[in-house]
Amino acid sequence: MPRRSALMLAVAARCGALVPRARPLRPLTTLAESAAPAEERRERVLSGVQPTGTLHLGNYLGAIRQWVQFQDDYDSFFCVVDLHAITAPHNPKLLQQETLDAAALYIAAGIDPEKSPIFVQSHVTAHAELCWLLNCMTPINWLERMIQYKEKKQKQGENVGVGLFDYPVLMAADILLYQAGLVPVGEDQRQHLELTRDIARRFHDLYCKRKKRVFREPKALIVKEGARVMSLTDGRAKMSKSAELDNSRINLNDDPATIARKIKKCKSDEFTGLEWDNPDRPEATNLLNIYQAVTGMERDAILAEVGDLSWGGFKPRLADAVVAHLEPIQLKYAEVKEDKAYLSGVLKSGAERADETATRTLDAAKAAMGFAPRF
Ligand code: ADP
Ligand code: TRP
Repeated sequence: MPRRSALMLAVAARCGALVPRARPLRPLTTLAESAAPAEERRERVLSGVQPTGTLHLGNYLGAIRQWVQFQDDYDSFFCVVDLHAITAPHNPKLLQQETLDAAALYIAAGIDPEKSPIFVQSHVTAHAELCWLLNCMTPINWLERMIQYKEKKQKQGENVGVGLFDYPVLMAADILLYQAGLVPVGEDQRQHLELTRDIARRFHDLYCKRKKRVFREPKALIVKEGARVMSLTDGRAKMSKSAELDNSRINLNDDPATIARKIKKCKSDEFTGLEWDNPDRPEATNLLNIYQAVTGMERDAILAEVGDLSWGGFKPRLADAVVAHLEPIQLKYAEVKEDKAYLSGVLKSGAERADETATRTLDAAKAAMGFAPRF
């Protein structure tokens, strides 16, 4: 497969309007950073999505699209977080395929694996190991406060596994292993990023007094447009893979007819015209937000174009805009999925590159905690 096809360049160009030009360098504040080779000292970005079901427009607009924008200027790692995917009951027959599909979608969305390693979380064992070390120093009541845990616990009902409770500590391990300064995620992950910072601080207080710190404290990077894409069937609920109704979300690989049908059927209201930010009209705000995110137009221009339309007039326009935005991604996705050897090569080299960086941090964390070195 050519390194960057014309199609991929087109995808990157579409997605890359906001690429910052400066190439920020990280200050060398931690032990593991000082041990890193000079070429790895650009500010680092890390993010990941769970391979549960198919990725949807919310995952793309809230998270993955930003990843594409940052990869030229930051040193980035992108991970398919399969260990997180088993914190809810999962189907072992599907996990492998969904993991590979998610990785293919990263590439289709415009991540260039030569620039930014793409890897599968469970292939780099340091994630699970650091998670254990952090578990032993994270107070239980910090995790009891996590909103996502409370929500998911309620959804799961009787059989909630320990893993669901521990999920944010594993996420902290993912981030801290790579000395990531920036983590592009959707709004719902802000609290997990705060927790990651708290865990890093506590680790340093406990184990790094008068010694060099082991971890870098990350910041969440949350975009305005697309930070929270809402469900098509309820403008007050987040679009989510785990929602029961498939009609509530636009999957990144839905075909044009399905997208048009879902938008045509989606919830609307009795008001005439379209407007933003009317608390009684969450669906109008959501669909306008989606339109803005996929067209890249300013709010004023959008209101001038569609503000007076009825729902019936607006929905086909929105459907066309979403279809046009996703088309190059879908074409590239089909191309990547055909070439299994290419995808496994990407994941193999991604895991090797990730492992090298992660192991350096893990070794520094174990040394700080007083573990005997490997002889
Ligand atoms: P889901 O809730 O669909 O299972 P994940 O929890 O795997 O999605 O989220 C993956 C990434 O996508 C995260 O960065 C998350 O913040 C972002 N994300 C998920 N749903 C949305 C949404 N509806 N709008 C914006 N971003 C989202
Ligand atoms: N918890 C994130 C989500 O639900 C996924 C995730 C796991 C993640 N590890 C991460 C995101 C590390 C960013 C960085 O979306």
